[in-house]
Amino acid sequence: MSFSSARIDPFANNRQRQAIALNANPSATYSGKLAETLALLQQAVSEFSPVTQASSLGAEDVVISHMIHHQALNIPVFILETGALHRETLALLERTQAHSQVAVKVYRPDPEKVIAFVKTHGQNAMYESLVLRKACCQIRKLEPLAVALSGQRAWVTGLRQEQSNNRANVALIDRTDEAIKGQIKLNPLANWTWGDVWHYISVNEVDYNSLHDDFFPSIGCAPCTRAISLGEEFRAGRWWWEDETAKECGLHVQK
Ligand code: ADX
Ligand code: SF4
Repeated sequence: MSFSSARIDPFANNRQRQAIALNANPSATYSGKLAETLALLQQAVSEFSPVTQASSLGAEDVVISHMIHHQALNIPVFILETGALHRETLALLERTQAHSQVAVKVYRPDPEKVIAFVKTHGQNAMYESLVLRKACCQIRKLEPLAVALSGQRAWVTGLRQEQSNNRANVALIDRTDEAIKGQIKLNPLANWTWGDVWHYISVNEVDYNSLHDDFFPSIGCAPCTRAISLGEEFRAGRWWWEDETAKECGLHVQK
């Protein structure tokens, strides 16, 4: 699917902006959190360079990228294009590359490893066992992540405490991996609510993944992400066939 470069207004296609209508509702402490986030991004550059932003182009990540661009901070953005992303995510990537002043750097898995894995285990290996699912994440996400983070002092992510029990203790500045990898993880939206995220998107007219309008709050690869129903947990659509405790691909698992 290709998008013409004339498509400048991302909202011109009659999209029902349901995600904004349903979610944009800032918390009482929004202004303070916004100031704290902007200060952390500035600190990222002054104290932790070279620093890069990992963006899946999810709602949190487009907010952070918008702040980075708006403040002209030297924080390059990258995406791990696993080869299994939704067409909606790829469309947003294409729009971002076409309209943003700063290109998103794209990291892809080693094609030979992907081909060999699929040849041996099939397209649907991720549903067969946790071992195979993690092996797929290793090839398509973790190995490219290691390349993307090589030589970086810090990386910025969109992790939020509210996203899951596993993430309840996410810190603004996470030094857990500093001793092992020499790398710091910065989570500028750690204490933001989902309502804060969508308030920022709405007020600043930030382009976003249209899957969010179709009840995909958390978006990963297409085979491993589904929409959620009313009352389901935020990450219920990720690896939905697995046990709650296994639901991480390894990008954010602490060793
Ligand atoms: S995951 O570990 O379950 O896949 P999740 O989708 O919640 O993570 O995203 C958390 C953060 O990890 C994002 O805000 C982003 O910083 C980073 N991230 C996740 N997927 C990608 C990706 N494909 N490319 C770059 N960064 C990503
Ligand atoms: Fe493979 Fe699914 Fe992991 Fe994507 S999320 S790398 S498709 S197992």
